[in-house]
Amino acid sequence: MTNKRMVDIAWEPFSALPVDQKTPYLMQPDGTPYHTLFAQQFDYALLDRLTQLASEIRGVAKTRAGMCFLHELVCHKRAMLYFSQPSSRTFLSFLSACQILGVQTGEVRDTATSSEFKGESREDSVRTFSSYFDMIIMRTPEKGLAEHTAWMLSNSERPIPIINAGSGQDQHPTQALLDIYTLVRSFEHIGGLRDRTVVFVGDLARGRTVRSLSYLLTNYPNIRQVFIAPQPLQICDDVLANLRNKGVEHRCSDDFRASIPEADAIYMTRVQDEWDKEKGESSRIDTSRFHFGPEQLKLLQPHAILMHPLPRREEISTAVDRDPRAMYWRQMRNGMWIRTALIAMTFGCDKRIHEYYRQNL
Ligand code: CP
Repeated sequence: MTNKRMVDIAWEPFSALPVDQKTPYLMQPDGTPYHTLFAQQFDYALLDRLTQLASEIRGVAKTRAGMCFLHELVCHKRAMLYFSQPSSRTFLSFLSACQILGVQTGEVRDTATSSEFKGESREDSVRTFSSYFDMIIMRTPEKGLAEHTAWMLSNSERPIPIINAGSGQDQHPTQALLDIYTLVRSFEHIGGLRDRTVVFVGDLARGRTVRSLSYLLTNYPNIRQVFIAPQPLQICDDVLANLRNKGVEHRCSDDFRASIPEADAIYMTRVQDEWDKEKGESSRIDTSRFHFGPEQLKLLQPHAILMHPLPRREEISTAVDRDPRAMYWRQMRNGMWIRTALIAMTFGCDKRIHEYYRQNL
């Protein structure tokens, strides 16, 4: 891929580009991400490099000496965690990732406590953060704000990397990275992430994690994607168009029970009623057939895994939590390792970690 520079393109033509044509503007010369905005930035080679780095970090972090080594790596860097939308896992795992690497952090979690409350624009706020920090990790309800921020800062005197930690209903690329890492780890001793069926269940229309993971899975050979939802919550056409273009086998259905025995991984999601256009809209949709409990567990293959980006509501019964196929707690912890790897790669210290791993483990 030939890199392009954001300073050479105005915002309007940049924002009008299809995502795959934006990618060359977001990467560093060595093929690693500078800004992480879209799942589509990651091809198989980069995913392989990133998941291996996450595993190396996990190994290194097991000892005190290893933790001290990691802690020194980028202790000269500061990261701003700008989360103007609620989050537990993404916020805490990014915070932990920064702590592991020695990156110091600042945070805004409620814009009522920042000068946005006095009418300052989001653009001016992030411009302010760039005066004090070396990276912005941002979650926002607005689709496209992370992208605009990346373009704006790249065209300022203080260009710093932006990591999209969830933008509107659109993208959650680092969630998809941790999901891929979980799938790769789960199947690494039984043939790898290839020739598998991944079944997505729930609110697929408004779940940004599903959109991003569907894109990333197209990098792996022969991964069939099945979308199970009540009709109003079924996956959007742009995701299906991407699968058609790439020749990926897929199917949409509302028959959850029939799809369980064919699944290698089931990816449950909650109803995203915070996006309802009118109050109570989602509660009128019958989602009771899209729940996973002990009855569904009996239909699940012995090697298959049950995933969920969390938070959950009633779509997964707590009665299945202790089954070894219930992967969602490990999936959540994997988020810390893959986000540590992404930050390390963005700041260019991945080779030092690799070297330490090779010499000490
Ligand atoms: N999966 C996820 O994004 O969780 P949080 O909303 O708690 O960050």
